[in-house]
Amino acid sequence: MSESSQPLRSTHWFGQKGKDGFIHRSWMRNQGLPPHLFDGRPVIGICNTFSELTPCNAHFRTLAERVKRGVYEAGGLPLEFPVFSLGETNLRPTAMLFRNLASMDVEESIRGNPIDGVVLLCGCDKTTPSLLMGAASCDLPTIVVSGGPMLNGKFRGEDIGSGTHVWKFDAEVQAGKMSMAEFSDAEGCMSRSAGHCMSMGTASTMACVAEALGMALPGNAAIPAVDARRHVLAHMTGKRIVEMVQQDLRMSQVVTRSSLANAVRTVAAIGGSTNAVIHLLALAGRMEIPFSLDDWDAIGKNVPTLLDLMPAGKFLMEDFYYAGGLPAVLQMLEQHGLLDGDAATVSGESMRTQNAEAKVVDKRVIRPFDNPLHASGGIAVLRGNLAPDGCVIKPAAATAELMQHRGRAVVFDSIEHYNERIADPNLDIDASCVMVLRGCGPRGYPGMPEVGNFALPPKLLEQGIRDMVRISDARMSGTAYGTAVLHVAPESATGGPLALVRDGDEIELDVAARRLHLHVDDQELARRRAEWQAPAPRMTSGYQRLYHDHVQQADAGCDLDFLVGRRGAEVPRESH
Ligand code: FES
Repeated sequence: MSESSQPLRSTHWFGQKGKDGFIHRSWMRNQGLPPHLFDGRPVIGICNTFSELTPCNAHFRTLAERVKRGVYEAGGLPLEFPVFSLGETNLRPTAMLFRNLASMDVEESIRGNPIDGVVLLCGCDKTTPSLLMGAASCDLPTIVVSGGPMLNGKFRGEDIGSGTHVWKFDAEVQAGKMSMAEFSDAEGCMSRSAGHCMSMGTASTMACVAEALGMALPGNAAIPAVDARRHVLAHMTGKRIVEMVQQDLRMSQVVTRSSLANAVRTVAAIGGSTNAVIHLLALAGRMEIPFSLDDWDAIGKNVPTLLDLMPAGKFLMEDFYYAGGLPAVLQMLEQHGLLDGDAATVSGESMRTQNAEAKVVDKRVIRPFDNPLHASGGIAVLRGNLAPDGCVIKPAAATAELMQHRGRAVVFDSIEHYNERIADPNLDIDASCVMVLRGCGPRGYPGMPEVGNFALPPKLLEQGIRDMVRISDARMSGTAYGTAVLHVAPESATGGPLALVRDGDEIELDVAARRLHLHVDDQELARRRAEWQAPAPRMTSGYQRLYHDHVQQADAGCDLDFLVGRRGAEVPRESH
């Protein structure tokens, strides 16, 4: 029973008399569950993204067991179920292509089963948004527990960060500064424990977002995966979800416009991934909360980046946890009027109360407001005739001197075209050029891969050039860096202006003015548009065709148009 004395949702399965109840209970009892567990107590679904093909989530069986201990302790019945697991490093053509598919799996698994509340086990980049989005459309009591980051990478006496050092090492190899033997040695040194990427990449960002939204218990974002305190957190999460069911505390009471704003400011303060923009827009769509790309810019603008974590800084998630973790950052934001302290959380306490005792214990990692890593962090949203519906750049990961730049375009029509041309010694390019990569948007690729920080030509790397302005309709890994203008909308495959750029056109970037301009007059653009032909879809059947036909543009979060919205957890009752 809930505190409102309404029978729980699961009683429509397990509480039935006659043959239907017999069927629902009998088959469950083949797992050794005694009959008293079907007495109307809260049934807690544990939504598990365990997979050995998703290395960041490969420890989730243990995590689920810890959640179960907490559920049992609080008098609930935990039932674990698998969903599509999206592993960033293995899944092709890109994990993002399947975020929405996984969210459908989550939504229908929750709605279709006898579940009163759900614990989302999130880890690798896309597993957090896909689980949040699927659960949002059902709106049951829901709580997140993340798998936690890996321990710091260690290579030849230095800390190395997931992803971030791959790009660095690769550039060193390309420039002849690192041997292949050293490169291969670094592989094992980077990923040396269970957990997700331990730089401030997308997984860490989304774990912070979950906590900033109020969807996870305090401390969830940064506790290393192998720290015993991660197990304690999972146990306490299991205990708490039972209480949430009893209180009927649903996701829609926690995730509000105010908590989305808290998450946006948090992403700025932590120097988080640009991918968070797309995922939060999609989540807002599922929750039916009006929230736009321009809201991102307005809310996140002028929030300082306090965390000194790679890729923007030098420390890693393990350091962040020891320095005070996300509660310390949230408390600082609240004290400076940049966080709504009254926002609800799954703990049952307000954001302010929940983080009241937090402390910064290492100011090198969590820097004070008067000495931030960047005075104005956040993700800037740019517009102009090259991106009428917007695009983004992360200034903290870019080169300050390139924030205002005008240069000659060198255009690549696709990844394949880029791969063919980039190493050509005759490629007409210098460090002042603006590199443009198109055909990599949600529909065009399809799935919007993380190639937005595409590498510079080897001949310029050899000259010591390490950054140039790059523009694309792709995304960028949260662990990456560079002056990369991303998520250009509309994308080129739908006929966005990016499709009309030609080699030699002048492009102007002005981040302070939030402007991206193609210096080609309207008449000429109209002439080029008349010649333009839409590319044929790469896949003409199956899920990829469905995705191609229904995916929304980046400024709307790349959800499938028919998945937007909260559909609730009502389901017709089947009689056997
Ligand atoms: Fe899984 Fe980075 S590859 S979090």
